[in-house]
Parts: sequence; structure tokens; C-alpha cells
Amino acid sequence: MDSFIIEGGCSLNGTLACSGAKNAALPAMAAALLTDGVTTLKNVPDLQDIRTMAMVLRVIGADVHIEDGTVKIDSSHCNFWEAPYELVRKMRASFYVLGPLIARFGQARVSLPGGCALGPRPVDLHLKGMERLGCDIQIENGYVNAKAKKMTGRKIRLDVSSVGATGNIMMAACGAKGKTTIDNAACEPEVVDLADMLIAMGADIEGAGTTHIEIAGTSKLKPVRWKVIPDRIEAGTYLIATAATRGSVTLTGCRPDHLQTVISKLGDVGVDVAVEGKSITVNAQHKIPEAVDVTTEVYPGFPTDLQAPWTVLMCLTEGDSIITETIYPERFTHVQELLRFGAKIRKKLNSIYVSGSKRLSGASVMCSDIRAGAALVIAALAAKGNSKVLRVYHLDRGYEKIEKKLNALGAKIRRVSE
Ligand code: UD1
Repeated sequence: MDSFIIEGGCSLNGTLACSGAKNAALPAMAAALLTDGVTTLKNVPDLQDIRTMAMVLRVIGADVHIEDGTVKIDSSHCNFWEAPYELVRKMRASFYVLGPLIARFGQARVSLPGGCALGPRPVDLHLKGMERLGCDIQIENGYVNAKAKKMTGRKIRLDVSSVGATGNIMMAACGAKGKTTIDNAACEPEVVDLADMLIAMGADIEGAGTTHIEIAGTSKLKPVRWKVIPDRIEAGTYLIATAATRGSVTLTGCRPDHLQTVISKLGDVGVDVAVEGKSITVNAQHKIPEAVDVTTEVYPGFPTDLQAPWTVLMCLTEGDSIITETIYPERFTHVQELLRFGAKIRKKLNSIYVSGSKRLSGASVMCSDIRAGAALVIAALAAKGNSKVLRVYHLDRGYEKIEKKLNALGAKIRRVSE
């Protein structure tokens, strides 16, 4: 298992190109199952999660070729409608194949994902949505067995705004007869990117990016070439890391419009943030960051995926801040590890109270999920002394070439295999 040895006390400086969005690329790969030709996806990040989704598609019978940010998926010969536990337990987003399989083949057997470091992450909304469309859903031996002779468009209201359920139902509804509406739909840019790709494939979808989406079922979708949007979470992570290390970094090839809340919060912290076209520059060289409360919310609110990195930034201020998690109320596994750096954090219900102490000291810590891992790397970069960050396989799931990117900005990170 790989670890990072990180020399602390560095500041990040320079220019960095944004990668494609993992959370847009994964549903896009699943969407390739809706057609029976060769789908070409561009700007796909080189990540373990992408390789896991490729394995899921190969089990189903697709040919998947990954090279230099391009993924080609030939789904003409798919003949096995199953996503096995061994893969779904590694990556919950594998569950995205459920909707396309039902839409194209009228059946699917997809493992239930099971537990998650973020706390409870049910898939009930996905399943209720499929049932509303006329799908018979049975849970047997840890698997969802779905069968749909004929699916009919219906009105579906999500009890909770869910990115995954919105995308999955949208894909299933492409194969239903008539119109499906999704209310309280997720508005995240990754949902919009999926809808735009489906529209390019010939789907009839309106309203993506709002809480009301309408999908008119279509008999056949065609394969497309699609360029995945830039990763707003990766970008946000590096912007926060720059502020935390008192550096100055320009991120290129990103979508500032997808990061407005994060940019505005960084402005509140007192660092200079400048947006020019597809670039964002954060300059924190001359300012001790100020304490700023955040509450995670659905898009366009502050993203839950940046809550852990933000916690580190707040540890490095001189003031007190409150961070409240409304999406995953138990998503605080990074807190115990941050205490090892000398952070002062108290947790109460779904909030943490951070007392900024301006400095952290290097420590050995362990990643528990992708974003908690990113937070630990930021803390290690900002801390005095050396740190060891264990279980970096979590980071390899979600951050393309993370140590190479950070080292190019002046970080001193060494990967060791044990
Ligand atoms: C996606 C992202 C993840 C991000 C999350 C929230 C991917 C691959 N992952 O995950 O990085 O943290 O959005 O922005 O895109 N819920 C239910 N029942 C369901 C589905 C969800 O109750 O059937 C709840 C969840 O427990 C959570 C909330 O809905 O409280 C939002 O989850 P959701 O948007 O579905 O997250 P994911 O799509 O799994």
C-alpha cells in the first residue's frame, strides 16, 4: 500500500491545469451502455475510479479502451447485465449502470453498494424512481434484481436532492415510453453534463440544471464523442491548498462559474482571488487567512466534497469557525486525523468548531476517503516538519497525478510503497 512522505512548510506557487471531472466522467461512461456503438469520451482523468468503471463495463460485455484522457467504449456486444459486488463495493458510482441497463435491456442485476466512510448512503431514491417507471425491483443476496418488460414515463419527486438518483433515473427514463418528470432534481454541473451528453445522443431532455427535469423517452440513442467538464472539486481543492500554504497559484482550464460559492468564500477569507476566462488565481502570500464559517449545501451551495479541505484552511486561521455538514451529517473522519497535526476541533452533531491556531505540526495520518485524504495532504503541506500520509489509494481514486501536480507547484511529496 502506498503512502506519501511530505515535507511540510512549503507554499504552492505556479500554474496548474485542471483535470476532467471524475464525477461527470463516471456517469458518462455508464451512459455509453444506452447505445450499441462506440462512444468516445475526452478529458477523462487518469484515475482508479475510471479504471474501476471500465472493469464494470467490461463485465457487462463492453470493450473499453483508455488512453491519454480518451476513453472509447464499444457497447455493441453487451450481453451480461450484471455489476458484481467486488467492483460496486470499491466504488459506489458503479451503481450508475442500473438505469442504462434497464433502459436498454429491460433487466439488470447490480450489487447494493454497502457501507461508506461518509456515513449512510442509501440508494432508495434510485430504486423508487425505477419502480415508478414500472420496473420490478427485488433485493436478493445483496443484489438489486431489476426487470422491466415495459417502462412508462411518470412523475417522480425525489425526497432528497440526489446527484446519483437524478442521473440514474434520467438514463432509465430515456428508455421509458412517454414523459418522465423529476422534481427536486439535483442541479449539480455533473447532472447537467450528463443531460447534455444524453441530448447529444438523441435524448429529449429539458430542465437539467434546475430542480425540474423532463425526459421524453426515445427509442434509440446514438453513440457520441463527448468532452467531460473540468473537475470543480479538484480545482476547489487546489485553490484551498494554495490559501492554506500561503502561496499563489493560477488554475487553468477550469469552470469558474461552477465554483462561485468557493471563490466567494475564499474572498471572505481575505485572500486575493481573480477570475479571467477559464482561469482562477488565488494569491494568499500576504495575508493570514481569516476564519469563515461554511455550511455544505446542494449546488450552488458550498460542496460537501470540499468540507474536509476547508476544515484544514480554518485550522490555519487566527479565529474560530463553524463548519456544518448538511449532505452527509457524519462526514467527519478527517477530524480525528487532523487532531494528530495539533488541530483544535470539537464536534457536535453535524457541526465542527474549529479554533484556528495558525500552525500545525507534521504527523503520521491515514486517509479514510478521497476528500478526507486531500485534507490530510493539505495539512501536511502546511504543517511544520515531516508527515506521512498512509492509504493514499483513496487519493488515487479521485485526484489525477496528485503528487506530480503538487510537486510542480513546489511541494515535496514522495510516494513510498510498503
Ligand atoms: C455524488 C458525488 C459525491 C458527492 C455527492 C454530494 C459522484 C460519483 N459522487 O454522490 O462525490 O459527495 O454527490 O454532492 O458523483 N440519498 C438518499 N437516497 C438515495 C441517494 C441519496 O437518501 O437513494 C442521500 C444521501 O445519503 C445524501 C444525499 O442524498 O445525504 C445526497 O447524495 P447524492 O447526491 O446521491 O450523492 P452521490 O450521487 O452518491
